[in-house]
Amino acid sequence: MHWVITGANRGIGLAITKKLLQENEEVTVGIRTSMPIEHQNLRALKLEVSDPVSIEEFVVKIDKPIDVLINNAGVLIEERFPEVTEEGMLLSFKVNTLGPYMLVQELYKAGKLRESAKIINISSILGSITNTGGTSSIPYSISKAALNMATKLLSHKLKNMKVISIHPGWVKTDMGGSNAPVLPEESAAGIINVIRNLDKSGIFLDYTGKLIEW
Ligand SMILES: NC(=O)c1ccc[n+]([C@@H]2O[C@H](COP(=O)([O-])OP(=O)(O)OC[C@H]3O[C@@H](n4cnc5c(N)ncnc54)[C@H](OP(=O)(O)O)[C@@H]3O)[C@@H](O)[C@H]2O)c1
Repeated sequence: MHWVITGANRGIGLAITKKLLQENEEVTVGIRTSMPIEHQNLRALKLEVSDPVSIEEFVVKIDKPIDVLINNAGVLIEERFPEVTEEGMLLSFKVNTLGPYMLVQELYKAGKLRESAKIINISSILGSITNTGGTSSIPYSISKAALNMATKLLSHKLKNMKVISIHPGWVKTDMGGSNAPVLPEESAAGIINVIRNLDKSGIFLDYTGKLIEW
């Protein structure tokens, strides 16, 4: 299977990539810098998800049909009421919402997604309107809630595909911090397992497969 993963040079994206390569899957990553690993089944392409030109160039370079797209690249800008800035809001929206949506749309128009492709938007429990306790970063939560809406809308349009949001857990990465209880390897294994066993579209799951309310 051909997997495409954004933001795979570190954190959860890197852990997913390593596990898939161990299992002899084919992986194309979209990254801004360089990969810390090399593998015969790994192809690294440049991608800045907040830049429409970069998305366009990335899409052109995809040379094999995609079975699974994991929109993993994301940014956490810590801003809380009443100190939220327009800049923080717009950057969060560009990276966490617009980037994933436009990438799907461009890949679709270019015919790069397999008819039965699985599209996975890495969201967050902090983007769940039902679950919010109101303590999280406002730009982050709003951009992930909007990403969840993109998931739902795309699931209605891409009828033969599966489009879902996944919360990866609170994971020990640069973003999650050192107090996070879940290791990137655990989260990655869970996410891959959820994707392989996926039989529904338009839903929000965590990395163990548990349903989360929007
Ligand atoms: N860690 C957690 O506890 C947690 C919880 C819930 C959800 N998530 C979500 O899980 C995903 C991965 O998070 P993580 O913890 O692995 O974060 P991370 O360690 O901070 O890694 C973020 C990745 O996204 C890439 N990225 C950021 N902005 C980008 C842009 N504009 N264009 C292209 N790539 C960009 C980074 O690339 P550079 O190295 O170039 O910056 C990096 O590869 C994110 O969507 C995050 O919101 C994480």
